[in-house]
Amino acid sequence: MTRTRCDSTPAWAQLQTAYQATGQRFDTREAFAQDPARFARFSQEAPYVFADLSKNRIDAATETLLLDLARQSGVEAHRDAMFAGAKINATEQREVWHVLLRNPALAPVNSAQEAPEFIAIEQAKVHATLDAMLAYAETLRADSAITDVVNIGIGGSDLGPQMAVLALDAFATTGKRLHFVSNVDGHELAAKLPQLRPESTVFLIASKTFTTIETMTNAASAKHWFESQGGTDIARHFAALTTNVAAANVFGITTTFGFWDWVGGRYSLWSAIGLPLAVAIGAEGFREFLAGAHAMDEHFRTAPLESNLPVRLGLLDVWYRNFHGFTSRSIAPYHSALRRWPAYLQQLEMESNGKRVDASGEALPFGTSPVLWGEPGTNGQHAYFQMLHQGTDVVPVEFVAVKTPRHALAGHHPMLLANVLAQAQALMVGKRDAAGPPQSDAAPLGGSAPHAVSVRGGKNPDGGGHKHFPGNRPSTFLLLDDLTPASLGALIALQEHRVFVSGSLWGINSFDQWGVELGKVLAKDIEPRLASGDTTGLDGSTAGLLARLRTST
Ligand code: F6P
Repeated sequence: MTRTRCDSTPAWAQLQTAYQATGQRFDTREAFAQDPARFARFSQEAPYVFADLSKNRIDAATETLLLDLARQSGVEAHRDAMFAGAKINATEQREVWHVLLRNPALAPVNSAQEAPEFIAIEQAKVHATLDAMLAYAETLRADSAITDVVNIGIGGSDLGPQMAVLALDAFATTGKRLHFVSNVDGHELAAKLPQLRPESTVFLIASKTFTTIETMTNAASAKHWFESQGGTDIARHFAALTTNVAAANVFGITTTFGFWDWVGGRYSLWSAIGLPLAVAIGAEGFREFLAGAHAMDEHFRTAPLESNLPVRLGLLDVWYRNFHGFTSRSIAPYHSALRRWPAYLQQLEMESNGKRVDASGEALPFGTSPVLWGEPGTNGQHAYFQMLHQGTDVVPVEFVAVKTPRHALAGHHPMLLANVLAQAQALMVGKRDAAGPPQSDAAPLGGSAPHAVSVRGGKNPDGGGHKHFPGNRPSTFLLLDDLTPASLGALIALQEHRVFVSGSLWGINSFDQWGVELGKVLAKDIEPRLASGDTTGLDGSTAGLLARLRTST
């Protein structure tokens, strides 16, 4: 399969020209004034998700060029290769096949790369494990002696299940308390253990590799606590969710649910790693969650590029990162159940696309993953939205709102929706300060890049400029009718695929994560030095800090 890095395509050069000619001065307010159909043109339905892209700095001509960029870079062939089970994670020689986890048992998988027998075997394994895992979840749900379920895992073995369990709280039909322990910082587990009793607790040890030091340390402490409190039946009170069943057995856990090395950690929520969610919402709910994701998969796989939402979002991401030079995206979920959404997306996008070389190892001459950050609205409004409205950097915002609330408190939901609409409106429309001179982000002075915003304020401490909102600050608005297992599944799959699209254009491998390895190796080296005090070969700062940590206070 041929991939062409985005910057070697004709469309890339055309986009550079278009950016210089008009893109850098693009004003969304003017675009709305000129095109009454702009909302319709830049909004679209995808499964379970309505997206309004119209407040972004994009017009039809730019989008056409971006679509050319996708075609010329071979995004479609790359996407098809992923669905077909090709080993597109080349540095690890692995398939990238999380989509298979949500493919219905009998749905065909078309693949030129893989033999039908291989696919049939993988599909059978997926569904046998899913059935077993969901049967276990139902047994656990029905077991009134168990009151607490503790997931011990980190990264993809924590963020996904934790985010989803919180998001679908309204669908939790179990009386069980679900807990998540991820940090190797003993404060986390130590605070949890006094709330638990061994006879009524099940620990789920979630680790793809079953070697991650944080998880192994927490699992060992949990097992030690369990046994020291008189707990006896490990098979009943510990289950492992892992590709490394042998290591789980060595650890002493015999109740295991497996998955496969072709499931990336940050894409593993759909596998046995999703067990906490299945315990919370039940087997039927979990199947609806998979079905929602599958609907989005089908949209991504089959919709024409111009009406393919993950493609349009991924192209916009590249437009902003590589042409406008925006370095971050703020994630603003206007639903308190989505409070871990920003953290989940941070791993998904930044671990996938935080790469400095392309798939062949060549250093990239352009930026890749933006920084993702955020908090649930309306809290963010009273913290950092000041910077979004009037700061010197333009930060595209991605709102998520839900039409129907799952509570009955009068007045709250209209207030919440009014706030999310108002924030998106204020960012775009801005407000002219009568006391100050005209100012805009999109008309830079002296040819400076528009992301290095020039504020033509002058000195006027009495208000000139201070109360001025430049506007034209871009945002995307994702709207769900309801936050359900199916719509959450679709929303997550949408994000997975948009990250695929930008990573594909950038020519990188979005499915490895070598960047987290060095810190792990160094921590192993430093730990014994904390006891011995040996600073040989350490840099001056690390040696100084280590020495200070060893001095008695
Ligand atoms: O931080 C690196 C990483 O490998 C993530 O990609 C992964 O989700 C996390 O560690 C946990 O890994 P595991 O599930 O193997 O314990």
